[in-house]
Amino acid sequence: MKKDLITLNDINQKEVLSLFEKAALLKEKRNQGEPHKSLEGKSLGMIFSKESTRTRISFEVGMYELGGQAIFLSSDQLQIKREETAADSAKVLSRYLHGVLIRTHEHEFLEEFAKNATIPVINGLTDLNHPVQILTDIFTIQEKLNRIEKVKVAYIGDGNNVAYSWILGATLMDMHLTIASPTDLRPEIPKTLDGPGRLDLFEDPLKAAEDADVIYTDVWVSMGDENGAEKKERLKNYQINQNVLKAAKPNALVMHCLPAHRDEEITSEVLDGPQSIIFDQAENRLHVQKAILDTLLK
Ligand code: CP
Ligand code: NVA
Repeated sequence: MKKDLITLNDINQKEVLSLFEKAALLKEKRNQGEPHKSLEGKSLGMIFSKESTRTRISFEVGMYELGGQAIFLSSDQLQIKREETAADSAKVLSRYLHGVLIRTHEHEFLEEFAKNATIPVINGLTDLNHPVQILTDIFTIQEKLNRIEKVKVAYIGDGNNVAYSWILGATLMDMHLTIASPTDLRPEIPKTLDGPGRLDLFEDPLKAAEDADVIYTDVWVSMGDENGAEKKERLKNYQINQNVLKAAKPNALVMHCLPAHRDEEITSEVLDGPQSIIFDQAENRLHVQKAILDTLLK
């Protein structure tokens, strides 16, 4: 049966750990220049209704390196724009492709597409969540700290799609997630929370950061958000800066899914500083997503 990756509820702890083993192996092979073309003859369609640098390029290069091809499909060039339904599009694309990656606004579009597709569907970000990002983030934490369980991650800022997926990911992988945001900008709490991890919500960023192993943030204004200026004003005390780092463990890791708005949600000093693993985190999108593609499309 085909398997999708629409939310982190679609994967269990054991599957995540074996995905990480595969990602580490694929990373090693790439570094050694060893071929690993497990998806020869396979095609991935990539439907995008929002901008992307990392997701688009890492999936496209990932398919190429696995011996397959990726086809970039801007949603405004598809008949979807002229109201062909998600269901009809899914039924047709399932006849040509071996998998589809979708980045869009409404999470319901993705669900409807996946329900009607006979091929795996991967979520490349919706307004609700961003599962491939958080899988990469947890892989990166494991790579740097050599452990996942009980790692304390402090997410500081807007309660957006990335925060929502962090709640699912930390719960699943037995991590301790703290989130600091104004109460009206807290993330939606997923209805199905499955796993032993712990979640604590704060208003005070310094309380959330206390003793944290990882300090994490994302932009204050996400793609498609309205009232950007007002949100920035509401979040101005939630910047990752030296003060926040001081509250965390010494040498706590600093992460950001990127793109960053320098000197808004994070100071350039911290982003480029010795505790930042942000560009390693971005690189790992490639390795983790290749493991996802190899697992779902083979
Ligand atoms: N982090 C992330 O998904 O980046 P892009 O929006 O550039 O794909
Ligand atoms: N929360 C951000 C993440 C970008 C990768 C957005 O949705 O724009």
